[in-house]
Formats: sequence, structure tokens, C-alpha cells
Amino acid sequence: MCGIVGYAGPQAASPQAPSSRPLDVVLQGLARLEYRGYDSAGIAVVDEQVRVTKRSGKLKNLREALEATDTDARQTADARQTADAGQTTGAEQVADTGAGMAADTRARQAAGAGQVADAATKQALGTTHGGVAIGHTRWATHGAPTDTNAHPHRGGRDGELAVVHNGIIENFAQLRADLAADGFVFVSETDSEVAAHLLAREVEQTGDLTEAMRATTARLEGAFTLLAVHRDQPGTVVAARRNSPLVVGLGEGENFLGSDVAAFVDSTKEALEIDQDQIVTVTADSVRVIETDGTEVPDPKRFRIEWDVAAAQKGGYPSFMAKEIHEQAGALADTLLGRLVDGTLQLDERDIDESVLRSIDKIVVIACGTAANAGAVVKYAIEHWCRIPVEVELAHEFRYRDPVVTEKTLVVAISQSGETMDTLMAVRHAREQGAKVIAICNTRGSTIPREADAALYLYVGPEIAVASTKAYLGQIAACYLLGLYLAQVRGNLFPEEIAEIMEDLQSIPEKIQRVLDDSAQVEQLAQSMQDATSVLFLGRHVGYPTAMEGALKLKEIAYIHAEGFAAGELKHGPIALIEEGQPVFVIVPSPRGRDVLHSKLISNIQEIRARGARTLVIAEEGDEDVLPYADEVIRVPATRTLFAALLTVIPLQIFACELATAKGLDVDQPRNLAKSVTVE
Ligand code: G6P
Repeated sequence: MCGIVGYAGPQAASPQAPSSRPLDVVLQGLARLEYRGYDSAGIAVVDEQVRVTKRSGKLKNLREALEATDTDARQTADARQTADAGQTTGAEQVADTGAGMAADTRARQAAGAGQVADAATKQALGTTHGGVAIGHTRWATHGAPTDTNAHPHRGGRDGELAVVHNGIIENFAQLRADLAADGFVFVSETDSEVAAHLLAREVEQTGDLTEAMRATTARLEGAFTLLAVHRDQPGTVVAARRNSPLVVGLGEGENFLGSDVAAFVDSTKEALEIDQDQIVTVTADSVRVIETDGTEVPDPKRFRIEWDVAAAQKGGYPSFMAKEIHEQAGALADTLLGRLVDGTLQLDERDIDESVLRSIDKIVVIACGTAANAGAVVKYAIEHWCRIPVEVELAHEFRYRDPVVTEKTLVVAISQSGETMDTLMAVRHAREQGAKVIAICNTRGSTIPREADAALYLYVGPEIAVASTKAYLGQIAACYLLGLYLAQVRGNLFPEEIAEIMEDLQSIPEKIQRVLDDSAQVEQLAQSMQDATSVLFLGRHVGYPTAMEGALKLKEIAYIHAEGFAAGELKHGPIALIEEGQPVFVIVPSPRGRDVLHSKLISNIQEIRARGARTLVIAEEGDEDVLPYADEVIRVPATRTLFAALLTVIPLQIFACELATAKGLDVDQPRNLAKSVTVE
């Protein structure tokens, strides 16, 4: 969580010809990273001083503050032409310029007394003749989401340094006491401010920001990505990472830093991975990476970003979520593209010997949230095709019990972001026990695939909405590919069987498009159910995790109580919830294939209908058996039972998205959530 952006470009030839590029780049980057947290946003730009502006709430509050500052600065400039130097216009400066920042000034800021700056330092924040800027969008951990707790945080006796931080500094209390005893004044409740002061103190001693970062990271415990700028090194941004994400974008005459590549995807497609415990020093025309012990990293891993800018914009849809739902047919086609080479399935990055894959006796799928629901779907497929037991477990539960994991265990870690801390910690634990790990991820350059033994990417493009949709389908499809790959390597299926299954899988994108084209019925249903206070979801087999996912979507974005159940479990408790008019979505499996599933589910619908439920049935085209028991039937094209999970979830995604939109809620940034959860 928390999004971080940094920029280093050329300094203006003269203060009279300033540039707005540093600020523009950082604000655009923050807009694309806002899905990582939206409790506050802030930026720091550097020319002969470090200038900070930050606001609680969403990025638009920061933009408004910057616009107000610009207006005020212009007024100040006009006033200066007619008045004596040093006379204020009466309009209070909104920005915290940090100049001459005495402790009492900062204490006043902490008390919320207003961020009043010396009139002599007033100038437009929209332009700077310095070339660097850093920015942050926050998901609060330590300290409430206030202006004061927003990042960047200043460090130093004179406010000469600014820092943005993603992560948690676990030993901050002890460090804070030490720094306070040394005369450093703390104004926020955050753990991050200790990093700012520590860095500033180290710069006092070494005179160099990179050296200061080395010394500082040695004292910090926990998780962090830090970006720092200093008044005395105005062309430089120094960054470090441990257990939190950081990538570098390589431009021409300018360079970028970001929590992920979305931060700078419109400026460059060339990027560098930054590994654990590395420090990177970025200027307009240089990028230097070192280990924390000071040794140079001569050849950091370079990669090309395949996402385009359009993919990170709404493209005419009312929300990113609506757009991402509606691009699922193409997204899934991209997941499946080019996987069969000479009749043989391929992974993206692989360092697991086939003999190891033949020897595994158990698969453990670990993930969180929507990715865990995807994992629950693929258990059915992998067990069916490969005849290996598959356990699916929430990553945080797996990590902190004492799971039985051996060299013969294959761990499949599913994560859209590749940064979810719970999943990352579970991956590390599994590897320590000797297990091999395959990552199923969407974000290249992210930590989980880098730490895994093999990776399979989704290629569904950037997913911006906090509630996951297209990545969910991509995760299921990618795991299906993995299942078929294992069946191929282990000889569980004949090549012709794999080819036949692949052919059916390849037909799914076109079927997805048909579901999307027929979405009007579900949209109307959602609009008519804005006042619902509770919705239940039932399914069997892959319909069960689909029910869980449908319920999760509704909870996440529409704030409606929703629960997904295994339909067979109904009579063991949940049926007590059914009363007159209770809406229940029922996901009905194909009447062909596994007949028994279908008939059992028809019985379950009858049971709830008899008790007054309003049945909203998702069933295959042509399935007439459901008609007597359905208040509403939503049709999906026929497919294999296993692949139905890629279709039946779509009406549920549309339902949640449409209902939340109708309620006037912020569909893309639901309250209290973040897309990339980088704390445990
Ligand atoms: C957060 C998001 C969810 C997501 C989960 C796992 O909770 O709000 O939408 O499913 O993290 O994310 P991952 O990136 O690991 O798939």
C-alpha cells in the first residue's frame, strides 16, 4: 500500500525559465498509483529549497491546494511589483516551504495552526527551476489520515530534507526517542518521520545523501521503500527498498522511480528492477544501484513495460472497474496467447527442473482476497487433471501456522500485484522449508515473481480499480495453464487431451464477450436493488468460489452485507437466514457433464424458494430445468463445468459495479481498502 513516485530531470537553465515537468510527472504518477491508498497525498519539489505540499484525503485535495498556492503565488508576485519587498498580500501561503523552519513553526503545524510560510519564499509550486520531485499517496498505518501525517515528511534541523515512505518501520519508537534527545523535532504521529530525521542527521555527518541512506537503512527494521531529496543535492533522488516495492523508469535525460511501473508508463517503457536491500541514486542522466554494503550492482535487471498508457485510463467508462470488466474478453485472450509452442505449454520464467515437478506430491495454493477465490477455483481443475492433492489457503493463515511443506511441495502463489505482503511472507516461508514456488502474477518487476522459482504472468494489462475483476479471470486461466503444463510434464493427460482442453479454453474469450454484450438485464437488476441490505450467493463445485467472489465484490464496493456459501452447506446453517424476499444468487452448473451437480443444485434452489427467497439464477443457455424455480434467470454460454467459472462470475461483477455506481459510491476506490496491501 501507499504509492510512491520520484522524478529527476534537467534543472532549468535559469530560475526565470522554470519547468512544471517534475510536478506534472509526479502528479500524473500519483493519479495512477492512487489505487494503492487514498488517505492523503503530497509532493516535494526541490530547487534551492525543499518545498512540500500535502493534504489529507484524495489526490484532488492536493491538486486543489496546489492550484490555490499557484494563485496565491501569482498574487504575491503581482503585489511585490507594487509594494515593498517582504510585504505580504494577506493571502496565507498554503504550502509548507520549510525555509527557516524553526521548531516552534513546525510545532504550530503539528497543532494544525496552519502552514504559514515566510512571504519571501512564496512562489508558484506548479513550476520549479529545480529538476527533482517526489510524491506519495497514503494508506494510513501509523497515525490518522491528517495533513500533518501525510507524506512527504521533512527531516533535519532546518527542514532541509524530505522523505516519502511505504511500509512500516518497526523500531520507530526507539529511534524517535534517540533523535528527539538529539534535538530533532517531530511533528507527526508517523513512523516515517524517523527515517526523515535519521537521513538528515546522516547527511550532516557524511555530506552525501546516498551514504546517508546506507547508514539509515542499516538502522531501520521492518518494511520500507524510501525516497529522499535534500536541499543541498538538488538534482538527486535517493531511494532504498526492503520488503516493499520499487522500480526505476529509464528516460532520455530524465529518470523515474515508482512503486510500480504504472507510475511512469506514459513517459518510458524501459525499466529496472531494484532488488531487496538495494539503494538507487537517480539524477536526470544517471542511475546508480548499490547494495547496502556499498558494493556496486553493475548490471541491474532491465525489462520492457508492455502496458500502454491507454490501458491506464478509463477510456470512456464511468469507472476503471467498469472498463476492466468490459475488457475481460481481450484480457483473457492475452493470458492465453502464445502458450502452446510446438504443441508444448510454456511458462514465462522457469527455473524448476521437470524432474522436480514430476516428484511433487502436493500443491499448496496461497493467496489473499480475490486471488484466493481464484485459487479455490483452480483446485478443482488441477486435482482433476493432475491427480495431485491441492490445498488452497489464505497466505496469512498458511504463514503463521506450522504447515507441512517439504521439497516435494509445489507452492503456487497467486497475486495480481505481486506485492501483497501476506503472500510474500508465505512464499518466503515455503521456500525456507525447501518448497518450489511458482508465482502467478500480473505486475512485472514485482517482488513475488522475482523471489519465486518460476513465474507465469497474466498479461491482462494494468488493473487500477481496487476490486479485482480481469485479474481474477487471468489468474484462473493462468492456473489452468499451469495445471495443463503439470499434466503434460507428469504424463497425466495425453497431448491430444491437452490440445482439446486448450481449444475449449481458447473459445472462452468469445463467450465472455457474449456475456458482456448481454449485460443490460443484470444492470437493470442492480439498479432495482439499490436498497438491498443483504444478498446471498450459492454454488457448488467451481460455483462455490464463484459465489464467494460474487459476495466479496458486493461487500467491497457496494458496502452491502453479502455471503457466499457452498449450496450443500445451506441446510447446515445458512438456510436459517432465508426469509421472505431475501435475494439469493444461485450459480447453476452445466446440466451436461456432471449431471449430479446440476440436479443437486436444482434441489437447493427449491429449498430456499420454499422458504421465501427471491432466486436470481445464473444458468447455462438452454437449461430449462431452472425455469420453475427462478425469479430471474441470467444466461451464460455453455462450456465445460471447469470453465464455467470464467463466465458465471461476470454477471456478479457487473451487478456489484452497477449497484455501487447507482448508489453514487466511489466504485474504484472503496472506503478503507487498498489495491496493493504491502503490510501484514
Ligand atoms: C487487496 C485488494 C484485493 C486483492 C487482494 C490480493 O485486498 O483489495 O482486491 O484481491 O489485495 O491482491 P493481490 O495483488 O495479491 O492479488
